[in-house]
Amino acid sequence: MAILIKDIKQIVTCSNNTSLPRCGTDQSESGIIENGNIFIDKGRIAFTGNKRQLKKFLSKNNFKKYKIIDGRNKVVTPGFVDSHTHFVFAGSRENEYEMRLAGKSYQEIAESGGGIISTVDSVRKTSKKELKKIAEKRLEKFVRYGTTTVEGKSGYGLDVKNEIKILEVLNKLNEKNKFGLDIVPTFLGAHSVPKGKTKTEYVKEICELMIPEIAGRKLAKFTDIFIEENYFDTVDADMIFSKGLEYGLIPKLHTDQFTSIGGIDTAIKYKAASVDHLEVLGTEDILKLSEYNGQHNNRKIIATLLPGVSYFLNISYQPARELINNNIPVALATDFNPGSCMTENIQMIMSLASLKLKMNAEEILNAVTINAAFALNMEKIIGSIETGKQADLNIFDIPSYKYIVYNFGVNNIEMVLKKGKIIYEAN
Ligand code: NIG
Ligand code: FE
Repeated sequence: MAILIKDIKQIVTCSNNTSLPRCGTDQSESGIIENGNIFIDKGRIAFTGNKRQLKKFLSKNNFKKYKIIDGRNKVVTPGFVDSHTHFVFAGSRENEYEMRLAGKSYQEIAESGGGIISTVDSVRKTSKKELKKIAEKRLEKFVRYGTTTVEGKSGYGLDVKNEIKILEVLNKLNEKNKFGLDIVPTFLGAHSVPKGKTKTEYVKEICELMIPEIAGRKLAKFTDIFIEENYFDTVDADMIFSKGLEYGLIPKLHTDQFTSIGGIDTAIKYKAASVDHLEVLGTEDILKLSEYNGQHNNRKIIATLLPGVSYFLNISYQPARELINNNIPVALATDFNPGSCMTENIQMIMSLASLKLKMNAEEILNAVTINAAFALNMEKIIGSIETGKQADLNIFDIPSYKYIVYNFGVNNIEMVLKKGKIIYEAN
C-alpha cells in the first residue's frame, strides 16, 4: 500500500540536485526540509515537499487508499548504507579481544595463528546453509540501527570452494532476506594468505581459478584487497585488479590501516570505487587523491573511514578533516567483523565520527547515506530522499537531526522502511 508520512518536523534528504558525491564544504549540506511530507508509492519515493505542494500532488494523482504515518516531532533520514562489512562469518574471537586487552597487538595475535586465519577455520567447518542462517540473523541488528543496505565481503574462505560458499550466501541473501535489505557482494580473496600455500601460489589461484568463476557466475560486484605488510602488496594488487577488471569486477581496497605501502597509488591506477580504513593515511597520499578526484568528476574515489576499528583496536583515528578540506568525499562504515570491529551499529560509528574524527552532523549523515551509496555505485537508487529513489527511510523520535550523534549510545529509531515496507518498529 502507498504511504504518506505527514508533517515531518525535519527531513534530512541528503539530496543536492547534483550527481556527485558530497565533498569539501558541500559535505556539510544535507538538504534539510522543515515541516515536510513524503509520499511513497510502489516502494519508491513519489513526492517530497511542503503542505501546499502535497495538496497539489495528491489532487493530481488519484490515490484511492494510502496509509498515513504521523511525522510530527519526528526526523526522517535516508536508510543508512553500510558500505564496508564482513558480516558472513562463523564463530567469534572474544578470546583474542581479551588477549589484546592484556597487551597483545592485532598483528601479534595474527602472527601466532589467530586473526583472520582463525575465522577461516570456523567458516570452512560451517555448511553453507548454517552460514546463511548465522549471517541472516545478524541482519536484524543492522536494521535495528537504521541500516537498509549492507555490503558484505568474502575473505574468510581463502580457497575456491569456501570463497564461493561465502559469496553464494551473500547472493542468496540479496535475492531474499527477512527484511528485503539490499546486500552487495564483494570478493576479498586477497584477505590473507591461507595456511599451506605461498603468497605467489595463492595470488595465482585467485587470478586463475577464483576470479573467472566468480565473475562468470556474477557472484560479486567488487574485488577488494588487504594491502598491508605481511598480507598483500601493490604487485599482488596489480595482478588481481587487472584480472578483476578484465572480468568486470570493480576495485576497492583495504589500505593504510597499520602501514602505508602504496595502496593509494594502486587505487588511483585502477580507478577504485573506494579506499577504506586509512588510519595511517599521510598528507602526500591525501594530496594525490585530491588531485585525482579534482580531475575525475564522473567517478571520484570515495574515502571510506572506519572509526570503529580505531576504537576497537585502540589505534589512530582517520584524518577526516584533512580529507574533507582537500575535497575528498568521505563515507563512514562499520567494517563489522569478528577481529577488528565487532559491531553492526552504524550509529555508534556516527558518534565516533563526531567525537573522534571531528565531523559535523551534516557531514556524518551524508557519509552514511549518499556518499556510501556512491562507494557502492548505487547512488542512482539509494542514499537520499529524492523522487524516484527507493523508499529506504529511518524515522527517529528526536527533536532535531543533530540529536542522533548527541544522544549517544542509545537508539532513537522508531521505524525503518525498506522499499516502502515497514521492516522495523520500536515498541
Ligand atoms: O577490515 N583489515 C583486514 N580485515 C578486516 C579484519 C578481519 C579480521 O580480523 O577478521 C578489517 O579490519
Ligand atoms: Fe574490512
